[in-house]
Amino acid sequence: MNLIQKAEQKAIYFFEHDATGHDWQHTKRVTDTAVFLAETEGADTELCRIAALLHDVADDKFHDQDGDGLNYVQRWLKENDCPEKMQKDILSIINTVSFKGGHNKTPESLEAEIVQDADRLDAIGAIGTARCFMFAGAFNEAMHDPDILPKTYGSSKAYREEKSTAVNHFYEKLLTIKETLHTPAARTIGEERHMFMKRFLETFLGEWEGTAFNKE
Ligand code: ADP
Ligand code: NI
Repeated sequence: MNLIQKAEQKAIYFFEHDATGHDWQHTKRVTDTAVFLAETEGADTELCRIAALLHDVADDKFHDQDGDGLNYVQRWLKENDCPEKMQKDILSIINTVSFKGGHNKTPESLEAEIVQDADRLDAIGAIGTARCFMFAGAFNEAMHDPDILPKTYGSSKAYREEKSTAVNHFYEKLLTIKETLHTPAARTIGEERHMFMKRFLETFLGEWEGTAFNKE
């Protein structure tokens, strides 16, 4: 097995039991998108592929302490004989991927921009919408409640402890993602996914308010 095949196996095994939208299928979509963006933008495809495969394995949400995730992936890369320069490049990409409210780092390479774009694209559009409702369900939140106002985005942990709703999450995060995309290829895809979400919300809120039978 080469390093990419091993990273794929690692991600599949790591996310076997996750129900919060961070499953292997998310990683697979992000990886496929990252490879497409890399080819379109002329970036290092293999570097994007392997960083995308491992990007959520390194997420601190799945480890005991902040910083543990990155160390875990570094150890894994070392154990699997990844050359040192490549280890550095992969870790630097992964380190910039997460959307931590207010704390996300600016990517320092085209490859980091691409993997960050790919991860963010998976949070919007039809699949992003579905993930949002899955997440709200898993965290016992309502799909919509007009009495609960959208929160302002804070640090991950405090943010999670405060209740919101799936619909609010669009205003808190999902509708802001389009503007944060770096590469032209991702922006084109993002534009379409953004329009889909706006139309979805319009329809959803219309049905909620009964506009179909309440025309006056
Ligand atoms: P990441 O920053 O790793 O993409 P998150 O854990 O913040 O991931 O989110 C995982 C998925 O769940 C994303 O699709 C995200 O939009 C969605 N999500 C995150 N927080 C909420 C929330 N409070 N309500 C609904 N969906 C959420
Ligand atoms: Ni991700």
